[in-house]
Amino acid sequence: MTEEYTKHEYDVIVIGAGGAGLRAAIEAARSGAKTAIITKSLLGKAHTVMAEGGCAAALQNADPRDGWKVHFHDTMKGSKWLADWKMAEFHAKEAPDRVRELEQWGAVFDRTPENRINQRNFGGHTFPRLAHVGDATGLELIRTLQERGIHEGIDIFMEYTVRHLLKEGDRVTGCVAYTRVDGDFHAFSGKSVILATGGITRCWSVCSGSWEYTGDGHALALWAGAELRDMEFVQFHPTGMVWPPSVRGILVTEGVRGEGGQLTNSENERFMFDYVPERFAGDHADTIEESEQWVNEVVSGKLATVRRPPELLTRDVVAKAINSEVKAGRGSPHGGVFLDISYRGEEAILKKLPSMHHQFKELAGVDITKEPMEVGPTAHYVMGGVRVNAETQESNVPGLYACGEVASGLHGANRLGGNSLSDLITFGKRAGEFASKRAEDLAQPNIDDAQVQTAIKVMIAPLQREKGENPGRIYDEMRDMMQAKVGIIRTKAEMQEAIEDLKAFDERQEACFPGASRKYNSGWHQALDLKNMVDVSIAATLAALTREESRGGHTREDFPGELEQWGKILNIIYMEDGEIKVRQEPLEEMRSDLKDVIDEVKAMIAERASEQAGGGQ
Ligand code: FUM
Repeated sequence: MTEEYTKHEYDVIVIGAGGAGLRAAIEAARSGAKTAIITKSLLGKAHTVMAEGGCAAALQNADPRDGWKVHFHDTMKGSKWLADWKMAEFHAKEAPDRVRELEQWGAVFDRTPENRINQRNFGGHTFPRLAHVGDATGLELIRTLQERGIHEGIDIFMEYTVRHLLKEGDRVTGCVAYTRVDGDFHAFSGKSVILATGGITRCWSVCSGSWEYTGDGHALALWAGAELRDMEFVQFHPTGMVWPPSVRGILVTEGVRGEGGQLTNSENERFMFDYVPERFAGDHADTIEESEQWVNEVVSGKLATVRRPPELLTRDVVAKAINSEVKAGRGSPHGGVFLDISYRGEEAILKKLPSMHHQFKELAGVDITKEPMEVGPTAHYVMGGVRVNAETQESNVPGLYACGEVASGLHGANRLGGNSLSDLITFGKRAGEFASKRAEDLAQPNIDDAQVQTAIKVMIAPLQREKGENPGRIYDEMRDMMQAKVGIIRTKAEMQEAIEDLKAFDERQEACFPGASRKYNSGWHQALDLKNMVDVSIAATLAALTREESRGGHTREDFPGELEQWGKILNIIYMEDGEIKVRQEPLEEMRSDLKDVIDEVKAMIAERASEQAGGGQ
């Protein structure tokens, strides 16, 4: 029996309506392409809002010594040298213009006394670099892009979930979706399709993302023949809420530490001083006095003359330090550590961190102007994703583009905080530009009814089973398993078990039964999400099993420390005969002029650190 569906035709289809999707759609539409955004959620409800503390761009407003070269260096160093250096170069050079453009479009950034966009400190950024709007920067970015998008005449399909990419030969030519409200089916013909679906962190039970984050774009790309890279690198943001249980994982912005927040254990020790890795030795404060002097200088608007506190080490380092303190029995009552900003006083906290104040007051009954927060790591971001051409954002499958978190390359083994908002506006623009340019030369693809019917058959299968397990149970158990076996600290034995467990979850999801109705059936949506979640979890676990070293967002208890040979290798995930596989590829060597840039910045930082160390004594 064939199912009915509605047909649509567009030049450019953007799947996802977070910052990357909106920016891509704006660019495509203003180039003249007939553009649609398809989003499984509501406009404005994107993980972009979880990038609270700011958007990294070398605007040079807070410190004139900054510039694209230092941002390029910091991104490469933070990535443990695994980032795609071409993307890191585009990003460092173009992010300032993208931020100024947002300002022209109405984004209301915090200001310096000279009325320029203010910039705050974040981990791994040599200079204060994060343009921010209090601690709600992502929200302001989404608001601005939405308003701009409305005026570009983009068609928006809200609460439509895309389950399949249509292909003609090797080329992606559209997609098939269902509506979440009433379960109707829709087929879209598109000359270019851009994935901007965000990440995969709902695969872990403690995470900062909401229900949308089920790896849809990663899975769609893999199923359509695209390659993924860096899937072993998952960012556990050091500070999520830990109490009460209902809010565990909700983000506590790095902006708290950027504004001077101090991490302490149950023995009231600033433990981060004990966790400065060799890589960063010398460029962070080594005494409490030096740290305090840095905060005093920064809050009074001076250029720092001493080194920054160790709380501003990169996220991978801080998350692992917190994990170690808790494991050593020096945690807070609910299994985290303490983060205290109360010494900055009520006025400063309400000005710089109003959302954090509200969040803790409302959700935990904690007044952060008077008492410390309890925080612990939370799965926040996946560095891995669709492998794309640095310039165009096209994947290895013609017609399929990706930008934002679903794409990979910019962040390598670890992303610097704030580099996600700048990533999505920089590469969202590029994806929209190149996808619409390509669409100009193409005829409108036909919608292949046979492919659409096959996709619909897969979608309705769970509804026709009559009996089976509740998908919600599989969902919860799978997330707990990933948290336990493929979390911050990993071992071969546990990950091998995880692969076997995932195969069992795959069989269970194939037999689950969410009820028979297509209308308002959230169990059905979850049943379908399970397939993506299984496949992206297998991709992440397989890559993690293969990388026998520890680097950035991938830590192996059985292989501690970085190995030189793995610093030159990428894990590429692909699908062959229905099976997810991994292979290694050498990393492309950096262009020589960029190597010179790295050397120049390293020398500048070393000189500055030694001057600052002197200043601090
Ligand atoms: O901590 C934060 O505000 C998150 C920012 C980011 O992930 O870029």
